[in-house]
Amino acid sequence: MNEPYRRQDRAGSAEPGGRDAVARRDRGAEPARPARASVGLAHRPDARSQRPHRLSAAADGTPPDPVLVVRGLVKQYGSLRALDGLDFEVRRGECFGLLGPNGAGKSTALKLILGLAAPDAGDIRVLGLPVPQKARELRRRAGVVPQADALDPDFTVAENLLVFGRYFGLSDALVRTRIDPLLEFAGLLGKRDAKITELSGGMKRRLTLARALVNDPEILFLDEPTTGLDPQARHLIWDRLRRLLADGKTIVLTTHFMEEAERLCSRLAVVDHGRLIAEGTAESLIAAHVQPNVVELSGDGVADWLQANAPLAGVSHHELVGETAFLYCADAESPAAARARAAGLRVLRRAANLEDVFLELTGRELRD
Ligand SMILES: Nc1ncnc2c1ncn2[C@@H]1O[C@H](COP(=O)(O)OP(=O)(O)O)[C@@H](O)[C@H]1O
Ligand SMILES: [Mg+2]
Repeated sequence: MNEPYRRQDRAGSAEPGGRDAVARRDRGAEPARPARASVGLAHRPDARSQRPHRLSAAADGTPPDPVLVVRGLVKQYGSLRALDGLDFEVRRGECFGLLGPNGAGKSTALKLILGLAAPDAGDIRVLGLPVPQKARELRRRAGVVPQADALDPDFTVAENLLVFGRYFGLSDALVRTRIDPLLEFAGLLGKRDAKITELSGGMKRRLTLARALVNDPEILFLDEPTTGLDPQARHLIWDRLRRLLADGKTIVLTTHFMEEAERLCSRLAVVDHGRLIAEGTAESLIAAHVQPNVVELSGDGVADWLQANAPLAGVSHHELVGETAFLYCADAESPAAARARAAGLRVLRRAANLEDVFLELTGRELRD
């Protein structure tokens, strides 16, 4: 797979005062100064709400300015069109989710937005800066959590932050004041001097998040921030992202976890085959694309039962996936549920969710 953020890392390690110099200087470090969170990490109880972050409009009702505008973005890799006219906007303070199956073009979009590759067509403006023309300046003001952690295994946790700060031209003295608050924020203070190889997957992801904050960015890009993590580690990341939103950061994340998108994002774009196919809040997408209620039927003979009983009263449409049938219904009390139960099938009634929308829009066939 591609590694969109490599260039940034390589550019960094090519800068003067490379790794050895860092390690040397850091070992002779002066005692840590009292840490002050200059990177907007103060704990706010209101940031712990389980609801997605909501944008507040200005007093006169006008929405905040867009901090990211993408228009007609096209990226061609040989005969493959990875992006095919992608359009979207992100507003200040928003948590915007790019949702799509594997290969949809999410990472490619981020790569172009960060100026790490040039588009074949289209316009990108981030924080008022045209990209790729002003990509360097943008990257100084942005934080990035790439899809794959690219931490340096030769350094400790704290040293990784110090080295990364240098990529932005930050003084060691300044970065040292940020290390402890960042590690505390990431729940890694106790691992300050640990080697990267000693960290769990969740810890590495949190350190990558802390690293992305070392330059106190205005906007944060996260590419699948919780893929591969267990539920505990995932919830911890979500909590930290909510704190950042409460502190006014703008977040753009890609994900294929609908729960993540529903919990965190104030607005979502569903992307497939390099195009935007739907956009809105989770609620508006559910209302627009699927019925509000779903009845899931499973058990032996589901397919036969469906064939014998369709069309079902109160069911707007149904899908059969393996041995499970999904019935989409306007009313919660669908008579089909009672009939199926009487026929000995297992019946689960639930509200429609974003995953139903996602599967409706992007199909159920496997993507690799
Ligand atoms: N550097 C590259 N060279 C050739 N093909 C690429 C490259 N990067 C991505 N692709 C292809 O472009 C499509 C979109 O990839 P990507 O943006 O990584 O998708 P996503 O992040 O949504 O899973 C995929 O088919 C992928 O294989
Ligand atoms: Mg990707």
